[in-house]
Amino acid sequence: MDAPTPDTWRRVDAYLTKTLVGHDDALETAVAEQNAAGLPPIEVAPVSGKLLHLLARISGARRVLEIGTLGAYSTIWMARGIPDDGVVVTIEAEPRIAAVARANLERAGVSDKVDIRIGRGEHVLPTLESEEPFDLVFIDADKESNTIYLDWAARLGHPGTVVVVDNIGRGGEVANPATMNPQVIGTQRALELLGRDPRFDATALQTLDLKGWDGVAIAVVL
Ligand code: DHB
Ligand code: MG
Repeated sequence: MDAPTPDTWRRVDAYLTKTLVGHDDALETAVAEQNAAGLPPIEVAPVSGKLLHLLARISGARRVLEIGTLGAYSTIWMARGIPDDGVVVTIEAEPRIAAVARANLERAGVSDKVDIRIGRGEHVLPTLESEEPFDLVFIDADKESNTIYLDWAARLGHPGTVVVVDNIGRGGEVANPATMNPQVIGTQRALELLGRDPRFDATALQTLDLKGWDGVAIAVVL
């Protein structure tokens, strides 16, 4: 095999998805409904959705916080990884998008375990301080606010809380110190925070899947 091309890495992703994830009506319908509603096709790839699901199970998470619901594709994956008395609190800025997510969650049979909070992350997150801490936090919203979201993840978590940040590679642009893209700059600041903030221990992996060349950061709250 030669160096990866979009064609070959998509073929590998399709093989891995077929072999390890399989078909899933609720998840595939959620994506179809999200697309039909005109939302951007930026949900995580199936292999990454399953990673989130496995992280929920491996960490024994009961309370999950998601920042950025979109069509609830990743929300469904994580809700399936927590016990019946657990909850995924998921923050969505746009009411119209939250309505698409709610219908998808109901169709997937997990709406009892999901609590959608409508509002911008920076406004909703402070309201969660009076609740029990979260065991798993998935950050997948506006990248410009990633450091704010990481700060809240540490504050709303506990020692051992797993924190995942989506889209840390951005087609390689993350390694460009001169980038002018505010989303990439937000991601660079988030990675630098994870590297230096004593509240976290972290790593990150590049990913090549049907969403292209990107990556995911995984951290634990100390
Ligand atoms: C974008 C955002 C995402 O969360 C993602 O997974 C892919 C792309 C974006 O804003 O372009
Ligand atoms: Mg994303």
